[in-house]
Amino acid sequence: MAPRVLVTGSAGQIGAELVPHLRSLYGKDNVVAAIHTSPGGPSLRDGPLLTLDTGNQAAVVAALKEYKVDTVYHLAALLSATGEKNPQLAWTVNMDGLRNVLEASRTNGVSQVFWPSSIGAFGPDAPRANAPQNAPLTPTTMYGVTKVAGELLCNYYHAKYGLDVRCLRYPGLISSVTPPGGGTTDYAVEIFYGAIRTGSYTCFLREDTVLPMMYMPDALKATVQVMEAPASKVPRHLGYNLAAFSFSAGMLASELAKLVPGFRVTYAPDSRQKIADSWPQSIDDTEARRDWGWEPDYDLPGMVADMLAKLTTRLRPEGKTV
Ligand SMILES: NC(=O)c1ccc[n+]([C@@H]2O[C@H](COP(=O)([O-])OP(=O)(O)OC[C@H]3O[C@@H](n4cnc5c(N)ncnc54)[C@H](O)[C@@H]3O)[C@@H](O)[C@H]2O)c1
Repeated sequence: MAPRVLVTGSAGQIGAELVPHLRSLYGKDNVVAAIHTSPGGPSLRDGPLLTLDTGNQAAVVAALKEYKVDTVYHLAALLSATGEKNPQLAWTVNMDGLRNVLEASRTNGVSQVFWPSSIGAFGPDAPRANAPQNAPLTPTTMYGVTKVAGELLCNYYHAKYGLDVRCLRYPGLISSVTPPGGGTTDYAVEIFYGAIRTGSYTCFLREDTVLPMMYMPDALKATVQVMEAPASKVPRHLGYNLAAFSFSAGMLASELAKLVPGFRVTYAPDSRQKIADSWPQSIDDTEARRDWGWEPDYDLPGMVADMLAKLTTRLRPEGKTV
């Protein structure tokens, strides 16, 4: 039987693609999209849609009951760069929201919860290359603090109440549908808009900044794969390291220039550079591969070609120049 799903933060970069993906798998009436202040795109409107503040536990409970939800994907959050502008709000949205969702879930018959952690959980004490699964987690951003505390809370709810919470440490995600929502890796999406619209882009990170990244189709695949895996294959309820490829801003610019002749990138690092410098350049996802068979489909050239083609089609309907 198909799960009855609630996705919080549906209007965001991930939700905008995860909701249609889950609806294609489980049926559109079985996947409820919850939005907050942003209305989200038309892709959310061909199934149940509600407005939900995850800071309001009674409202979360009411949504679970009304739609007879048994599976929650809790995506609502403030991201790293936005979180550094307002750390108090980042703590409130990320931690109160997660606690409300976990508590409402365990008391209302929800059997599974998905919650994304991030490479932002790492800090300067983790090795910069191939950060292992059990690297020390000493983040220097409030976002990272909420990711580490959130992983511990998910693990606690599993250990104490038996709630089946599954958790991935996503790398920076690149997607063609919805612009990213205030993270440190947003440049890797913005650069495509620059290439298509003006043939130029000013990058807010240094040219040699290497970070772990992933194309959205792989992130959707990993998310569904870890949720559908038998419980025996997912022994970890802290975040699984998850990797696809790593590149520098300069490497991405060169790859794009192969397909967009004359593309020019300049570099003007801002406050996000400090956040990027505190994260690993690559992470070791051996446990995800071993436990539930994770394997990405896209490498850097494959992602760039697909992303450019999709975004060009979207931004230039019928061949018109934007
Ligand atoms: N996008 C990435 O590259 C990336 C990487 C690692 C981890 N993640 C994690 O994945 C999750 C989703 O990320 P995203 O990129 O889609 O984020 P996003 O910023 O694009 O979307 C987050 C959504 O949460 C909503 N929201 C904010 N406050 C809320 C509240 N109080 N109640 C309900 N909704 C609220 C916002 O309206 C927004 O639509 C987050 O936990 C994020 O930390 C994302």
